[in-house]
Amino acid sequence: MEDMQTSETIHPDQIDSSAASITYKDIGSVVRYELRTTHIIVYGEMVNYTILFPGPSVVRIVGSIQGHSADIAPTPALLPYELQLGWSIVETEFWLEISRGDIVVTITKATMSFRVSFGGEEVCDSHELYYAGKKLRCRGAISREALLYGLGETTGFMDKRGEKYTMWNSDVFDPHVPDMESLYQSIPLLIHHHPGGTYGIFADNPGRTVFDMRTDTESYLIETENGEIDLYFIGGPGLKDVVSAYSTLTGKMKLPPLWSLGYQQSRFSYMSQDVVLELARTFRKRAIPCDVIYLDIHYMDEYKVFTFDKERFPDPPKMMKELREMGFRVVPVVDPGVKIEEGYNVYEEGSLKKYFCEKPDGTQFVGHVWPGASVFPDFTDEKVSRWWGDLHQFYVDLGISGIWNDMNEPSVFNSSSKTMDIDIMHQNGGNPKSHGELHNLYGLLMCKATCEGLGQLLQGERPFILTRAGYAGIQRYAAVWTGDNRSYWEHMSLFMSMGINLGLSGVPFCGADIGGFVHHTSGELLTRWMQLGVFTPFCRNHSSIDTKGQEPWGFGDKVEAICRKYIELRYSLLPYIYSLFYEASQTGLPVMAPLVLEYPTDRNTFHLSDQFLFGKDMLIAPIYRPGTEHRVVYLPEGTWYDYWSGERHHGGQHIVAQAPIDTLPIFIRSGAIIPQTRIKQHTETAEWLQLDFNVYCSGYLEGEELSTREFMLYEDDGLTDKYETGECNLLKVQCQRQMGKLSIRLKYAKSGYGLGRKSLIFNVHQLGFVPDNIVGIERVDNMEDLKVHASGWYYSNHNQKLVIKSEFTDYQGVYLEIISC
Ligand code: GLC
Repeated sequence: MEDMQTSETIHPDQIDSSAASITYKDIGSVVRYELRTTHIIVYGEMVNYTILFPGPSVVRIVGSIQGHSADIAPTPALLPYELQLGWSIVETEFWLEISRGDIVVTITKATMSFRVSFGGEEVCDSHELYYAGKKLRCRGAISREALLYGLGETTGFMDKRGEKYTMWNSDVFDPHVPDMESLYQSIPLLIHHHPGGTYGIFADNPGRTVFDMRTDTESYLIETENGEIDLYFIGGPGLKDVVSAYSTLTGKMKLPPLWSLGYQQSRFSYMSQDVVLELARTFRKRAIPCDVIYLDIHYMDEYKVFTFDKERFPDPPKMMKELREMGFRVVPVVDPGVKIEEGYNVYEEGSLKKYFCEKPDGTQFVGHVWPGASVFPDFTDEKVSRWWGDLHQFYVDLGISGIWNDMNEPSVFNSSSKTMDIDIMHQNGGNPKSHGELHNLYGLLMCKATCEGLGQLLQGERPFILTRAGYAGIQRYAAVWTGDNRSYWEHMSLFMSMGINLGLSGVPFCGADIGGFVHHTSGELLTRWMQLGVFTPFCRNHSSIDTKGQEPWGFGDKVEAICRKYIELRYSLLPYIYSLFYEASQTGLPVMAPLVLEYPTDRNTFHLSDQFLFGKDMLIAPIYRPGTEHRVVYLPEGTWYDYWSGERHHGGQHIVAQAPIDTLPIFIRSGAIIPQTRIKQHTETAEWLQLDFNVYCSGYLEGEELSTREFMLYEDDGLTDKYETGECNLLKVQCQRQMGKLSIRLKYAKSGYGLGRKSLIFNVHQLGFVPDNIVGIERVDNMEDLKVHASGWYYSNHNQKLVIKSEFTDYQGVYLEIISC
């Protein structure tokens, strides 16, 4: 505890109040405006606005201080977009009104304050700009009832009112507490959610950017320090519309390989080849499903990337072969710091070609990280990125298709900045900029280089990248884990709001170290965290050096059995999970979502982040306190079923769920169709030949005449990008409910892959009537009989559950009509 602070920290003489004393000044009035082919420039006394329309519901306003020419080339956060033309401008005595389609920007001439309205709704109230030297501040009014979401990976709760964050990617080993204003990722998207109309404001600035929702309770302040502020206003009207429009701008997650959705085991570090192999054998011996083992820094020779330590890992090809035979993938860590060492090929070649970041005087920037004195590739230069990508041949030759990019803020072990010097110059595609201006892009660009390089080398196999640092758009290249959390109950619960806001900020594929990284986990914490972890999009258990091991078997039989049960539950749900990922890759919407996304006008959901939706139909309510066996759960409107007991609850109320240590409260929305499959010890293809559908009847029970619900099941090989050229299936499962009748229909909406014979089971819960006949299927006398027949049905009066077994052998699909007496 050498670095522990004492009360001396707040000695009045130590407090530096100069930061608070910056005086921002008014920017004055509009002087004139100019219409260009693709944009409009409004010149002011101190600041100019450049106004562009990058999408049908998006307007971009770039404020630049006089004398600083606005850089309107979009940053690498964005996908290339086509500017929307056809705008018009109207000038009155007091205003300039610029409109295109549904969007109207009204600028007050006297002050240059502006409003944006979408679809005639003034959802986005007054915004003003101020300046102080090269600093710009945008003040935006917060409506009284609005909630503030987004901002990616931040501490605190889901609503960001009253918080302040600095977007500056930082390696934070200290415990992640609400005082931490910066973490590893920077996603400068703030969502102003109001039931009457939601909008997003994306401040695309990869340099230091402050979001201050604290100083002024009625406004948010966004501050930059490079003479420019680049604001994208994204219209809704709904929360989903904003998230999906933002993902159109910054890109969507690509469909990951199926194996990366399995359970993953990591530790800093599994120290040798023997340890890794023994770990793999233990998983199989104990029958705990697992797909991936991570290699942390000790696999390397003196922490040199693209090497193996010859003593600890004497025969990587042999290790890889044995692991593959047991069904494991390996994901090694690759950091950006390249050890300075004569004769080390990566260092030698990179230096010769001047690929490493340089100081203004043209000498290499040297920073200390795990390998000691190191140099850092300049990923803003395409050639460097290609070179780095190609270096991954080293891993691909061993059969590796996943890479873990860490320390890529970049983290540098120095006591002051903890990162690269801000005056380092980056090549930036021929438009050199300083590290201070581009800092938050470093991790994103490293992942881009890794993902694109690996993608090329794998020749059609999908790469998987995991990253710690990132910026807006990171979802295009990598899954995100939330860095060095701790084995604290508080950190388990913290991930729920972090994961939810990452999802609302365009990053569906995210997770935290299950069990906690630093500190020592307990059997109870691991158990509860595992229950939550199998329902987070990225599911990896990772722990630090010198902490109690946290493999699922380290805490006795009971903990092991519960961990196995939940990991198995995840594997059985893979058809559901993979379909959710497919959907997210198409829509940009989260896999792990806050309730407010589906119920945006229900006030009970506005702050709800200790329970979440996993897909639309599963509500997960983890226990996140020790010694606790019950909790309050909010069920929104509709009808909900307890996943374990089948008990039915009316929505629109809070209930108390009982949760003994082996129970994670899970509720299923009525009308849901949840596909599950047989448990395997590791994933194989994503063509599901064994499908058990849990059908939760709906509609009629609530008195509707006819109700139809659907689930779109996605299938492909789970491994290659052939799905992009049509080698995939979409199987539409539809249940239609009428008085005394239920019909279930399975039909391919798209068929281009596999199409083998499928064994199907339908568990129809709460049917609501006693079935008499299912056309073409025989009734059997009991459940045991059902097991031995390829087809048949059985109805239990006891729990009102109908089980139907059937087969699916051709393209024609299945049609089952269940008729009452
Ligand atoms: C960083 C990572 C952690 C990793 C360690 C060693 O602290 O966040 O996950 O285990 O470095 O590579």
